Amino acid sequence: MPDSAAAAAEPRLRVFFALWPDAPTASRLHREARQLQRACGGRLMRQDTIHLTLAFLGDTPVSRLPALAEAAAQVQVPPCALVLDRCGNWHGNRVLWLGPSCPPTPLGLLAAQLGKALRERGFALEKRPFAPHVTVVRNALRPPAAAPVPAITWDVPAFVLVASERGPDGAHYREIGRWPLIKEAAN
Ligand code: 2AM
Repeated sequence: MPDSAAAAAEPRLRVFFALWPDAPTASRLHREARQLQRACGGRLMRQDTIHLTLAFLGDTPVSRLPALAEAAAQVQVPPCALVLDRCGNWHGNRVLWLGPSCPPTPLGLLAAQLGKALRERGFALEKRPFAPHVTVVRNALRPPAAAPVPAITWDVPAFVLVASERGPDGAHYREIGRWPLIKEAAN
């Protein structure tokens, strides 16, 4: 089989690294998302899909998953708390998101360290600077009000690698790896 045919036959997964909220945080985010959807129209993301993307890989050969795990293991960042207190819109009005107005330092470090380790292993990532956000509504009809949203605190003890699979009711996400954030040793 020519190399290109072998590469095409290789099993692949659509994958990305993300922060995944625990159930109570996901529920709070979803409640806030519902308020936004009521005000702005559009399609509410399902509660089980709510996440914050750290690095999007897209379609990836399964044989490259160990390299992704190796990159993730390079990250050395302490646990942190995100305060989501801001709503914004992208692509005109269509995508509404919740985000932190003051992202904690470890979150930026996490995205930067992970991005560097992935690029060193040959993975192509998007070049835009990391903009932490949780997409909560798609195809909105109106922009959100300029008013602040009630702050939701999200404690982040770990990050995950997720496979995205298409179902009849949209994307389903399956966790395929998890790495804890580690407290720095006291001196
Ligand atoms: P979004 O929330 O801003 O739409 C799974 O699809 C996750 O990866 C989503 O959170 C999505 O971001 C992000 N994503 C999808 N396609 C992407 C792309 N081409 N580049 C960067 N991120 C992408």
